[in-house]
Amino acid sequence: MKNWEGLAQNDALWSILTDKKLRGEKWDKSQFFNSGKQEVENILAYLKEQQVQPVDFELVMDFGCGAGRISRALSQHFNKVVGVDASPTMITLAEKENEEFADKVSFKLNQVEDLGQFPDNSFSMTFTVITLQHIPSAQSVGFITEFIRLIKPGGLAVFQIPTKDVRKFSLMQRIRTFLRIRERLALIGIGKGFNMDMHPVSEGAINQLVKKAGGEIKLAVNTNQTEPDYNGDVKFLKDDEAASGYLSRLFVVTKS
Ligand SMILES: C[S@@+](CC[C@H](N)C(=O)[O-])C[C@H]1O[C@@H](n2cnc3c(N)ncnc32)[C@H](O)[C@@H]1O
Repeated sequence: MKNWEGLAQNDALWSILTDKKLRGEKWDKSQFFNSGKQEVENILAYLKEQQVQPVDFELVMDFGCGAGRISRALSQHFNKVVGVDASPTMITLAEKENEEFADKVSFKLNQVEDLGQFPDNSFSMTFTVITLQHIPSAQSVGFITEFIRLIKPGGLAVFQIPTKDVRKFSLMQRIRTFLRIRERLALIGIGKGFNMDMHPVSEGAINQLVKKAGGEIKLAVNTNQTEPDYNGDVKFLKDDEAASGYLSRLFVVTKS
């Protein structure tokens, strides 16, 4: 968590979308927030196409909200949005950048390993992208269990997480990924001592914990969201396609 506070203070928007061309506070704010709109539109359209919809559109949580890139976009579809983050700097930034949406969007600091500040069965949807991948697996599985506790019956827990390190697949992929990750870590870490580790959780472990928490997986699809320069342009990949480095999966879970 301290790590993320450091990243947020250093170059908040770039720590969220890590296109190396935009390092050094080069993100244009309107492009940054438009990327969230595009990402949310694409994911919600995909769910609709797959005929998986939440029971209603009352309240949604954006877990690991950062600057509120996704929270703002979700407010176009849900009556109320709560963005949750462990970094005080991110929460302050999110509040400042989303003032004009304050009637629908609020932000909450959460620096513990559960979401106990929110009641059971209270959300139409919990949503998180490019966040669980940076949280140690022992904690991220706890958060997934919490997402299922928080959704109402018929609600949806939508979460993206890497499920394996694809670098093991081929020499070419290993080389490509090594170069990218090394470059990415070097860029983030220079002189600051903060880094952005990746923490996959296996598909088997996710299947088991969802079942144990009383959830049912409705969809699981590969995406390109572990690519450092995907910039919110989410793509749904075929089973045999994977982003380089880590296999990114988007899960959609419901409970009855
Ligand atoms: C890569 S950013 C993604 C932000 C946002 N989801 C987006 O797509 O624009 C990851 C965010 O997760 C937050 N984060 C990291 N660990 C967390 C934790 N344990 N609980 C809540 N938020 C956390 C970081 O502070 C950061 O804002």
